[in-house]
Amino acid sequence: MPCPGPTGGSVATERTSDTVDTLESMCGIVGFVGSGSSGTQALDVVLDGLRRLEYRGYDSAGVALQTAQGLVLEKRSGKLGCLESALADDPPPPATTGIGHTRWATHGGPTDANAHPHLAGEGRVAVIHNGIIENFAELKAELVAEGVSFASQTDTEVAAHLLARAFTGTGDLGEAMRVVARRLEGAFTLLGVHADVPDTIVGARRNSPLVVGLGDGENFLGSDVAAFIGHTRQALELGQDQVVVITPHGVEVTDFAGVPVEGRRYVVDWDAAAAEKGGFPSFMAKEINEQPHAVADTLLGRTDPAGRLLLDEVRMDESVLRAVDKIVIIACGTAAYAGMVARYAIEHWCRIPCEVELAHEFRYRDPVVDGRTLVVAISQSGETMDTIMAVRHARELGARVVAICNTHGSTIPRESDAALYTHAGPEIAVASTKAFLAQITACYLLGLYLAQLRGTKAQAEIREILTQLQAMPDKIQKVLDGLGQVRQMARWMADSRSVLFLGRHVGYPVAMEGALKLKELAYIHAEGFAAGELKHGPIALIEPGQPVFVVVPSPKGRDPLHSKVVSNIQEINARGARTIVIAEEGDTDVVPYASDVIHVPAAPTLLAPLVTVVPLQVFACELAAAKGLDVDQPRNLAKSVTVE
Ligand code: F6R
Repeated sequence: MPCPGPTGGSVATERTSDTVDTLESMCGIVGFVGSGSSGTQALDVVLDGLRRLEYRGYDSAGVALQTAQGLVLEKRSGKLGCLESALADDPPPPATTGIGHTRWATHGGPTDANAHPHLAGEGRVAVIHNGIIENFAELKAELVAEGVSFASQTDTEVAAHLLARAFTGTGDLGEAMRVVARRLEGAFTLLGVHADVPDTIVGARRNSPLVVGLGDGENFLGSDVAAFIGHTRQALELGQDQVVVITPHGVEVTDFAGVPVEGRRYVVDWDAAAAEKGGFPSFMAKEINEQPHAVADTLLGRTDPAGRLLLDEVRMDESVLRAVDKIVIIACGTAAYAGMVARYAIEHWCRIPCEVELAHEFRYRDPVVDGRTLVVAISQSGETMDTIMAVRHARELGARVVAICNTHGSTIPRESDAALYTHAGPEIAVASTKAFLAQITACYLLGLYLAQLRGTKAQAEIREILTQLQAMPDKIQKVLDGLGQVRQMARWMADSRSVLFLGRHVGYPVAMEGALKLKELAYIHAEGFAAGELKHGPIALIEPGQPVFVVVPSPKGRDPLHSKVVSNIQEINARGARTIVIAEEGDTDVVPYASDVIHVPAAPTLLAPLVTVVPLQVFACELAAAKGLDVDQPRNLAKSVTVE
């Protein structure tokens, strides 16, 4: 993709418009301070971190370096490559301290001027930001009244000017950041450097992630550990409303009032290789391929020698779990579809009413939730703001919250009563795949655990289901090994204008997930329907040649819905649809009515989504690649949606 022409320059330029149309949201942030003894250049570390964080946002990128000539800034709209080219054309002087940012804006077009870092204090302060400063207008008015002029339309620049002003008043960068943080409302991770305070980066966080990487004679800051995983696996988790100052040999953390606090240290359980493409054409292709491991690792170590489920992480009083009379699953997007799959299993195994709700809807509709409600918050990133707000709301209403999450140290598990981690490893591609399978798996574990605790399933049955679950990674692998036909189909169908997906029971959320993958990756109109709903309206969409994927339940005798879905296939086939059927191996009933049949290994009905969704993921990935689209970084999207 070409880089846009320069709209600013390497120094923030004055803008005349006073409208803030670029509120910063989910971005990637990296900071590095080194002692210089190893010869490590800050620019190399920062760019390396930005490459790993680019999945968080890719509208524009920038760096600020502390050099012998003061702060040097370079920023560009477009993907990171545009910034890298600019830096290659005009290499900056050496530096051992630097910050970098990759941006995803919620409103307005990204420009060089709106890219981060933002300068203040006559170019002696540089600030980068992730989040939204909700009271920026009032703060900006205050600064403008003092004669400060703004070079961008962002809310972030307000923080930069406030930091410069506070430093002039305090002479202490940490204290200056605390002064700023206390004035800001909303969500923010801020990093700042000052030309007069060498070898130092200050950071602050509220409602937005920031992690410290601990090195030897060097320290790091990142919006997530991917920022520094190439250099250290030792990390320090920052809590809500904390300020951190890092130097090559020190890390000091305080709350916003200046009271020292201890961060929680941990070792990251994956390494840099896990965050590389490893020979695959895209991260998404790699992550689809990793799904057998994601499921196997999520299942690992969850039983005692007698085969009883142990969910040590779910440290919740057993009497509380026994008293639960309702489960509400909250999540967004793909994670919500995982919740929809889980609902069928949880209700069946535990006999507890279970609702699934989009987190942003739950938060604003006065839900009936109390101390006997168990809320299950599902999130890959742990930073989805809609889900965070819903978790807070549920807890205010007295509910207990279990987080199902893939990211250690992130906000959702931290703010929940208990956490059950999925062990999918880092998911870099913006579209979620392996996290989806791991989320479903973790939900199954939670459902079986509740069934065990409440005695709604005999121990022998639970053991049997666990054995079936353990067999799923091999079945997923088998699907992956036999997808040549799907890849070919995706290439033939690259010009499709609309694709429909049908499913019933657990196949319904699978159909919706298949449609979501196609929309977000290939920009093709796609809808997922409950197959039974077809005759109530959507069948009007069927015309000759319309591609329709149908997820078929197990053959007759084992699943009563099989014959119903076969009837649905006949209905659309009769109207000329191109019917692509995902059916169990050996299912011949569907063959006469299908244009194409994709066979997947037999699996128990409730576990079948772990195999039936895989061809749909591969189809979307291949079709997008056939259209020449960026599979890992679809337009308008970012990996974690940290704004409401
Ligand atoms: C779709 C996708 C999104 C996320 C959703 C929730 O491919 O990735 O729909 O599933 O934004 O994100 P998490 O799971 O991080 O809360």
